[in-house]
Amino acid sequence: MKLRRVFIVSSMVLLPFVLALVAVLGVLFARQGGFEPYRVPHGGSRVVASDAATLARGEYLARIGDCQACHTTRGGMPFAGGRAFATGFGTLYSPNITPDAQHGIGDWSADEFAHVMRHGVARRGVLYPVFPYAHFSRVSDADLDAIYAWLRTQPASANEPPPNRLEAPADSRRMLVFWRMWYERPNADAPIAPADRGRYLVDGLGHCAMCHSTRGERGSLPPEGHLAGGVIPGLGWYAPPLDRLQLERYSDQELADYLRYGSAVHGSAYGPMAEVAYASLRALTAEDALAIARHLKQVEPSPLRPPPVAAHGDAVGGKGADLYADACADCHGKDGEGKPGAYPPLRDAVAMTAPDPINAVRMVLYGGMAITSTGNPRPHSMPPFAQKLEPADIAEVLNYARRRFGGRDSRLTAEEVRSMYGLVVD
Ligand code: HEC
Ligand code: HEC
Ligand code: HEC
Repeated sequence: MKLRRVFIVSSMVLLPFVLALVAVLGVLFARQGGFEPYRVPHGGSRVVASDAATLARGEYLARIGDCQACHTTRGGMPFAGGRAFATGFGTLYSPNITPDAQHGIGDWSADEFAHVMRHGVARRGVLYPVFPYAHFSRVSDADLDAIYAWLRTQPASANEPPPNRLEAPADSRRMLVFWRMWYERPNADAPIAPADRGRYLVDGLGHCAMCHSTRGERGSLPPEGHLAGGVIPGLGWYAPPLDRLQLERYSDQELADYLRYGSAVHGSAYGPMAEVAYASLRALTAEDALAIARHLKQVEPSPLRPPPVAAHGDAVGGKGADLYADACADCHGKDGEGKPGAYPPLRDAVAMTAPDPINAVRMVLYGGMAITSTGNPRPHSMPPFAQKLEPADIAEVLNYARRRFGGRDSRLTAEEVRSMYGLVVD
């Protein structure tokens, strides 16, 4: 008798809390798109155009979306999947998207393909956000159809990528529903009008924000961090903000050249940006490159971006200055001005002004080579210094260079440099 009363009273007390919890979960579920993303359409008889002009457009768009880079292993068959992605919770492999019916997406309809590109939910379940669907959701129906049509003309492969190696609970695709409830906010205004060309390419297929944004918790991409710059998860490189302040030093045309050729007067693409330039942006038409440049140079700085660095530091002397004169000045110039057409300036370079010194350290340790392109047929390279300079020297020369050419109060230590040895070189 007494027990029953306790039960009734306590459930009356708890009831409001349970109802509130259900309501909160309901709102969060609605905000990630409700049930719509999980209704993956199978089959369907909609026929998409596959004339030569559509296929050529599909091929171009697939290049700008960089599908091949992520869906191909080194030396592997294009689009057959298996490229590994390191995440904070283990390794993920890209799937086979060739027209093989069993191992690829050969039996997918155009509707199913468009659904997956828009919502990031496929037959196999919810997809991890390493797949840039949040950006692809902004692509027009006609362009998604063109990519689909072109992918179907590619050779089929029966490759089966290795199973993912992820820790619990991230290994469960069901758990991704909770991630989506917390972090996924589908764009209400998707897709972007293709006429707004620069924005359409940057925020859509180009998925630039995937690297160039400040991430929130658990790999999320909060709107405030959009194009605000940050260290790229899993890669260990810093990508700068893409906004009018960062890109002030480029004219529209210089920026368009940087994108199409991988190098221009103010620097050359290296690290993951070199890969993007080589595999994808090199294919940009002159008009599209200019549209992207014009758009980026108008992006308003986000409050989350690092404050721009003001005046450059004085020419502090000492050991750093001597090391710079000995090891770097031949190429980068006495005053960091570089050699036009050959060596990039260090004055205002990304690695000098970046709040994080990681790009500068990696370049000095392992060197780099600008990409080959029609605008830069004989690219120059930078030698690795890992065997030539001690960690303490690398810290000294970079503190000097980042202060002088980047206005950064750089206080890199030998220990920090040592901790960056052995980062995967890509
Ligand atoms: C940054 C890397 C990256 C890029 C760029 C990329 N993908 Fe993917 N894609 C992935 C990964 C990783 C997955 C698997 C995610 C998972 O297993 O949850 C995936 C999944 C997919 C799937 C789902 C396949 C299936 O069997 O479930 C399709 C379809 C797809 N991608 C097509 C494309 C197309 C088309 C493009 C270019 C417009 C593209 N991807 C660009 C990384 C990428
Ligand atoms: C895979 C990650 C990645 C993606 C995707 C990516 N970038 Fe980058 N980007 C970087 C990194 C890292 C740097 C810094 C290294 C460098 O300057 O080459 C960079 C540098 C740049 C710079 C040089 C900025 C300066 O101040 O000199 C521009 C411009 C740029 N990216 C534009 C783009 C555009 C436009 C896109 C999309 C079409 C894009 N990036 C996509 C990683 C990426
Ligand atoms: C033989 C010529 C050469 C020498 C010597 C050289 N560099 Fe470089 N450096 C280059 C080239 C070429 C690039 C562009 C590489 C690329 O795009 O991958 C570069 C790029 C860089 C970058 C990236 C700039 C950016 O845009 O963010 C930094 C930082 C850098 N060098 C620092 C140094 C320092 C410090 C030294 C001396 C310890 C040095 N370099 C010595 C040729 C050189």
